[in-house]
Amino acid sequence: MGMVVTIDGPAASGKSSVSRELASRLGWQWVSTGAFYRGLGYAALQMQVDISDVKSLTELSYSSVWSVKMANARTHVFFKEKDVTDDIFREDVGSIASKISHYPEVRTALLEAQRKCSSGSQGLVAEGRDCGTVVFPEAQAKIYLTASSEHRAARRAAELGLDQGQTQEAQKVRDQQDSTRKAAPLQVPAHALVLDTTDMALEEVVDSVENFVRSKLNK
Ligand code: DC
Repeated sequence: MGMVVTIDGPAASGKSSVSRELASRLGWQWVSTGAFYRGLGYAALQMQVDISDVKSLTELSYSSVWSVKMANARTHVFFKEKDVTDDIFREDVGSIASKISHYPEVRTALLEAQRKCSSGSQGLVAEGRDCGTVVFPEAQAKIYLTASSEHRAARRAAELGLDQGQTQEAQKVRDQQDSTRKAAPLQVPAHALVLDTTDMALEEVVDSVENFVRSKLNK
């Protein structure tokens, strides 16, 4: 396994923008582990798999009908060989992703593919909810990003051209689900750098994270 840095946090806390930029500065790969849950949720929608049917969902987790591929700009999802990355960011897919991520069987099924992302490269920046706690507990540096609920909703609404109030409500439900579930809930990993990015520019966040990571790597 190469070197790994993890960035966890709630929905729209800036994890993707920060990890993409950090990976670019370090010359490493990056992966959004949410793409695995979103990809599975999207595949379940397309194949009309009942999302309360854990057995079928677990089978679908291992199916080659969908796949995840890392790239510099985005983590891509393919369904039946078609790039569906644009579609997986819809809030309805996010909501299904959050629901199916409750099942321990589904989490276990997706874990191996997430861990494989760290092989074959010098280093990996992995972002999600449980990257520092479950996926890569041995990571060299762990970061936890957060921001006010209003700020996160405004950011996602602007990105997707949606209503801010509705986005905030949807995110609240998702945050609640992600942090109260029994299997690998969203939590701050031990020894993580915790940053509230509400009043910080992206550049400032990446600078702080990069300094922290470099101090860990030079130890
Ligand atoms: O980071 P995101 O918004 O793309 O993630 C979508 C959903 O996937 C999130 O609401 C919960 C789930 N998820 C998870 O359970 N564990 C992860 N490491 C990443 C995402």
